[in-house]
Amino acid sequence: MNLLLLGPPGAGKGTQAKRLVAEYGWPQVSTGDMLREARAAGTPLGKQAASYMDAGELVPASVVIGVAKERLMGSDVAGGYVLDGFPRNREQAEALDEFLTERAESLDLVVNIRVDPDVIVKRILGRRACAAPDCGGDFNVYFNPPAAEEICDDCGGGLVRRSDDNEETILNRLDVYRRETEPLIEHYRPSGKVVDIDGAAEPDEVYGAIKAEIEKRRG
Ligand code: AP5
Repeated sequence: MNLLLLGPPGAGKGTQAKRLVAEYGWPQVSTGDMLREARAAGTPLGKQAASYMDAGELVPASVVIGVAKERLMGSDVAGGYVLDGFPRNREQAEALDEFLTERAESLDLVVNIRVDPDVIVKRILGRRACAAPDCGGDFNVYFNPPAAEEICDDCGGGLVRRSDDNEETILNRLDVYRRETEPLIEHYRPSGKVVDIDGAAEPDEVYGAIKAEIEKRRG
């Protein structure tokens, strides 16, 4: 299945995508992760994206669309994928529509994860990730705290915050979401593929609701 996770920053798209990857094996296609990896590697793409990301602005579509399309042409996504953070505005959505039509493919499910802004700000300010390469440890000082402050339970490495996880940038990311990304829910609604999920519930409950929608469609 080809899934799209829509929702504001901090809605839990990444959290739920990782669970879907673990259960169904469909790769997570996250433009945010790809851009962060490019930044960490110091590539021209990473350098180009850095100032937009730190300001909470969208990286120009001319850059992001190419990155996403290249990823979607990989052999590992042939059996399905979980789109997380792409598309993010009408231009990107139209480019994706065109790309899928050319390949006689489509999205099977668009999951709209809804969460109130006050919950989002707390979640994002509390987010911590393990700095150790390949660990993937993911914590939240409010909702899923590590046993020892700023130390990863999994590998003992240090925990870090994302450079765009500060209050000022979060408010801009939310504003950008409302203006640019939220209208995509109505872009996809006529397809009949959109389901609205309460993202304020516990992660297991959110996952259960998404899984139920997937299973309904898989018959
Ligand atoms: P991106 O990396 O896509 O970030 P985002 O959309 O702002 O989303 P987040 O990663 O902050 O949140 P999430 O919904 O994945 O939540 P998570 O599961 O982590 O983009 C970053 C930047 O890159 C953009 O601002 C832009 O500059 C650029 N970019 C990326 N894609 C682009 C594109 N297509 N076009 C242009 N620019 C692009 O959860 C958050 C926290 O809450 C975690 O700590 C988690 O543990 C916790 N949590 C999750 N679910 C729950 C729950 N149910 N209950 C309690 N806590 C929870």
